[in-house]
Amino acid sequence: MTDKPTVAVSLATDAALADEIAEVAAITFPLACPPHSPPEAIRGFIEHNLSPTQFRNYIADDAAAVLIATDGSGVIGYCLVLHRDPPDPDVAAVVVGQPVSEVSKMYVLPDHHGAGASHALMDAAIDVATDHHSEVLWLGVNNENVRAQRFYAKKGFARVGTKTFNLAGVIEHDYVLSRQLTEPAVNTRAN
Ligand SMILES: CC(C)(COP(=O)(O)OP(=O)(O)OC[C@H]1O[C@@H](n2cnc3c(N)ncnc32)[C@H](O)[C@@H]1OP(=O)(O)O)[C@@H](O)C(=O)NCCC(=O)NCCS
Repeated sequence: MTDKPTVAVSLATDAALADEIAEVAAITFPLACPPHSPPEAIRGFIEHNLSPTQFRNYIADDAAAVLIATDGSGVIGYCLVLHRDPPDPDVAAVVVGQPVSEVSKMYVLPDHHGAGASHALMDAAIDVATDHHSEVLWLGVNNENVRAQRFYAKKGFARVGTKTFNLAGVIEHDYVLSRQLTEPAVNTRAN
């Protein structure tokens, strides 16, 4: 019997990892797209948003955390956390807190689904957002991506709204999910 290699999750700080992360991103992004997504839109999104340059920039950005899951074979999944106000007004209307963090990307190679790597990545994302003192961690998930929705529900996220997602010119529909990290501030002043 062979033991499964141990999965480790860490913060990517070395820009040299960007190429390997971009490779995993290119393999896994299509898995999150609904079946009707045009292949050229998927390819366009990968080219413009998931390039090694983009990941080098995220690794260097203090307002971003690139978390990677690795086993003996290299990077098997990654998660991008962004510390910023929600740029989309539909999200800002339902994700209330100051500051907040976003799980912008959560992707694991298909051979490693259902084996815990995604849970370790999300636990690390929650830790990163908590260390940032974020009140809320939020994310968007395609409304047809039932597997991811089930995973997020298991990790304590609940649906709070909807938004659209521009997939290289094709408008897709997402659920907005959030998880409270700290108690909302209470206004104790008497009126
Ligand atoms: C989303 C992702 C990170 C979740 O990690 P995972 O290891 O697959 O998560 P888990 O296996 O722990 O949980 C998935 C749940 O969906 C269930 N599931 C699997 N296939 C399913 C399907 N086709 N329809 C509905 N549920 C499904 C699993 O049984 C499991 O639920 P259970 O634990 O109650 O049985 C991973 O699947 C992934 O990388 N997917 C491709 C990229 C993606 O969609 N990323 C999210 C973008 S928002």
